[in-house]
Amino acid sequence: MMEKCNNNKSFIMFSLLFCFLLFPHLLLSLENDYVRAPVRQLVTTQNQRSDSDPQQVHISLVGKDKIRVSWITEDKHTQSLVEYGTNSGKYSSKATGTHTSYQYFLYTSGRIHNTVIGPLEPSTTYFYRCGGSGPEFSFKTPPSKFPIEFAIVGDLGQTEWTQSTLKHVDSTNYDVFLLPGDLSYADSQQPLWDSFGRLVEPYASKKPWMVTQGNHEIETFPIIYPHGFKAYNNRWLMPFEESGSTSNLYYSFEVVGSHIIMLGSYTDFDDKSEQYKWLQSDLDSVDRSRTPWVIALLHAPWYNTNEAHQGEGESMRQAMEKLLYDANVDLVFAGHVHAYERFTRIYDNEANSCGPLYVTIGDGGNREGLALNFKNPPSPLSLYREPSFGHGRLQILNETHAHWSWYRNNDTNSFVADGVWIQSLFSSKACTQNPEKQTSHEEL
Ligand SMILES: [Fe+2]
Repeated sequence: MMEKCNNNKSFIMFSLLFCFLLFPHLLLSLENDYVRAPVRQLVTTQNQRSDSDPQQVHISLVGKDKIRVSWITEDKHTQSLVEYGTNSGKYSSKATGTHTSYQYFLYTSGRIHNTVIGPLEPSTTYFYRCGGSGPEFSFKTPPSKFPIEFAIVGDLGQTEWTQSTLKHVDSTNYDVFLLPGDLSYADSQQPLWDSFGRLVEPYASKKPWMVTQGNHEIETFPIIYPHGFKAYNNRWLMPFEESGSTSNLYYSFEVVGSHIIMLGSYTDFDDKSEQYKWLQSDLDSVDRSRTPWVIALLHAPWYNTNEAHQGEGESMRQAMEKLLYDANVDLVFAGHVHAYERFTRIYDNEANSCGPLYVTIGDGGNREGLALNFKNPPSPLSLYREPSFGHGRLQILNETHAHWSWYRNNDTNSFVADGVWIQSLFSSKACTQNPEKQTSHEEL
């Protein structure tokens, strides 16, 4: 009897230990007496179409009035043709692009197609077909003037949380999707890139997805793949050449009064680097009368009061923060930390009404779970912080005012848990006309 009881105790202890090893967030939750959403299952999305049909279709902005359509076919002979028009089933225009493929150890990708279409009319729905067969897709072009709305979400992954976040993003209208790094969490398992492409296709084929890369895109391997980003660069071609960049890892684009800069946290950024020089010339080229709003996205946050990933963005901050500050960049969005955090306007670790407002939005739904612990006592620079899945919305209403909101992912629905009005630095004489800038510590 006693032996049986001891056996039961051992079994319970072993089960608890096993649970905590598998799900360490449970232990953290007990410590905090606060249960947060646990990690959820990986979702793999199979190909349901024929080899010649397009899959993993996504679109991105290229220049003022063009869209790049990207897709993959298993068939290596399919043309990079896009037929499109403003009526369903009737394609009045067509364009042919280029194709490529890549090898990663024993994996060979399908044929990756990239075709630029346009010029396109603003605020117009276009219907399109890829490769001359397969399903019809459609998208609506961004407007030509304010207002414009961005959906912003980092560290997306492909879990059940990802699915619900994407549904929440899709449930209300927006114009452009921005992703500050960590897309598929394939981590060198190349078929997971394909699965991710299929998971996001319903969303990324109908709204432009503008992305930058995170640490999960690196995928280096000593000697064989020393430079990394092979899958990312082949699959997620962004308009870097159009913005004078020599690398797909950093670029900029403009849409409706907004100049958006995508930076690379995992490529050189010191003052001798190509990225630094490009950023300098890109910021110099900004015409604030055309794009009063300037927004930057990068992966590893420069400001972060979560215990996760402390200091990982610090060397990049030290190298590049002054460039953004001097150029009156309005907002900086980062990912990497799997939580939401909104700061005040900051420059060099102090509140500064002429510095960018910083937001960490790395809470899309990745497989690693949430970054549960924030440092205490809270920093006065950090105005809202919460370890929950979710996504953000930036509505730019006009040249001077925008509204930021953060939607917590409450599983079946989403809930606006944080919001703030933002005034553009372009509209602040104190920031734009004072060469030395006033370091007032007031908060905008
Ligand atoms: Fe990351």
